[in-house]
Amino acid sequence: MAVDDKLQSRVEVDLGDRSYPVIIGPGACGNLIGLLPPEAKRIAVVTQENIGILLDLGDRQVKVFNVPNSEEAKNFIWLEWLVRGFVEFSMTRADVVVAIGGGVVSDLAGFAASIYHRGIRVINVATSLLAMVDAAIGGKTAINIPEGKNLIGTFHQPLAVICDTEHLLTLPEEELYCGRGEMAKYAFLGAPDLIELPLVSQIAACVSIKASFVSQDEREGARRALLNYGHTLAHAIETQAFGPESPQIKHGQAVGVGLVFAALLAERLGRIGEQEVEFHRHVVTSYGLDPEIPAWVRRDELVEVMLRDKKVKSGLTFVLDGKDGLEVVSDVDPEVVRSVLALAP
Ligand SMILES: NC(=O)c1ccc[n+]([C@@H]2O[C@H](COP(=O)([O-])OP(=O)(O)OC[C@H]3O[C@@H](n4cnc5c(N)ncnc54)[C@H](O)[C@@H]3O)[C@@H](O)[C@H]2O)c1
Ligand SMILES: [Zn+2]
Repeated sequence: MAVDDKLQSRVEVDLGDRSYPVIIGPGACGNLIGLLPPEAKRIAVVTQENIGILLDLGDRQVKVFNVPNSEEAKNFIWLEWLVRGFVEFSMTRADVVVAIGGGVVSDLAGFAASIYHRGIRVINVATSLLAMVDAAIGGKTAINIPEGKNLIGTFHQPLAVICDTEHLLTLPEEELYCGRGEMAKYAFLGAPDLIELPLVSQIAACVSIKASFVSQDEREGARRALLNYGHTLAHAIETQAFGPESPQIKHGQAVGVGLVFAALLAERLGRIGEQEVEFHRHVVTSYGLDPEIPAWVRRDELVEVMLRDKKVKSGLTFVLDGKDGLEVVSDVDPEVVRSVLALAP
């Protein structure tokens, strides 16, 4: 991916005395040393070997913890390995974890930091597009258990987030789709016309939206939940894609499909018109994503999958567009969902 903007951008996540900066742009990681608290003597760098990004941490004692390059790293075994490694490295409450990687690394490292000595500080150096626009910001940390993804975790805000767009140069092409799905989502949360902007400005606009949602609703009441736009169907499709034998789909591609489906559902419920549905298709395709449900998806089983979702509280919940913008809608009639699914392109 070409890095097309020379300027760095800074967005503040406003949380009172826990506010923190997100620094975006080429060479943004040059700010890392200056962000380290002076009293921090030891830095635990959590990353993945394949990412291959090691940063200058000056005269601090540094220990690198490489975790596996897969979602599997987000489990109790690697969590225990990390925190025991922190003990062995003699980390104190003054020391800092630096997570260098995508969402897998920041979710796991953030969780470990949040429970080690009842919470030590963490800086996220987001190296995937998805982490830059979403996972590294907002303080949600998590690991998975067999019963479900991200079921165990904490809220633990980082000290700072760095999104160095030069790091995207080594990101595999297909990983860009993950980030693009989330970027498409932000088009319906206040940034409808990003696609023409330079990349740094696009990322900064997405970060600003996420930051404002997090500031207003840190622990995900109704407002922050709007960030899950497109995700109800996306998660159900991803569940069908689970396992080595199953067809694969990137999270962002599933979100793209989920956004267009949410628009079709909103249209069926009389909340929006055909023009708005068309706008959803336009945004999703302009990010290079396919708006149609993949042929391998077992459509007739999706509603059951959604109802089994461990986080579901009251029936089928969707974020839906309407004349006043997005809204969380609970108890959507499963029959309506089934019939829209059956007819959707
Ligand atoms: N905490 C949150 O708010 C939040 C939000 C969204 C997603 N998530 C979590 O984030 C995870 C997905 O994150 P992701 O899409 O970043 O996936 P990921 O962390 O698996 O990274 C994708 C792949 O790209 C590689 N990679 C990352 N940066 C690279 C670089 N600069 N150069 C070369 N390779 C690089 C990684 O090693 C990995 O193979 C999921 O576990 C999801 O649950 C968390
Ligand atoms: Zn997502």
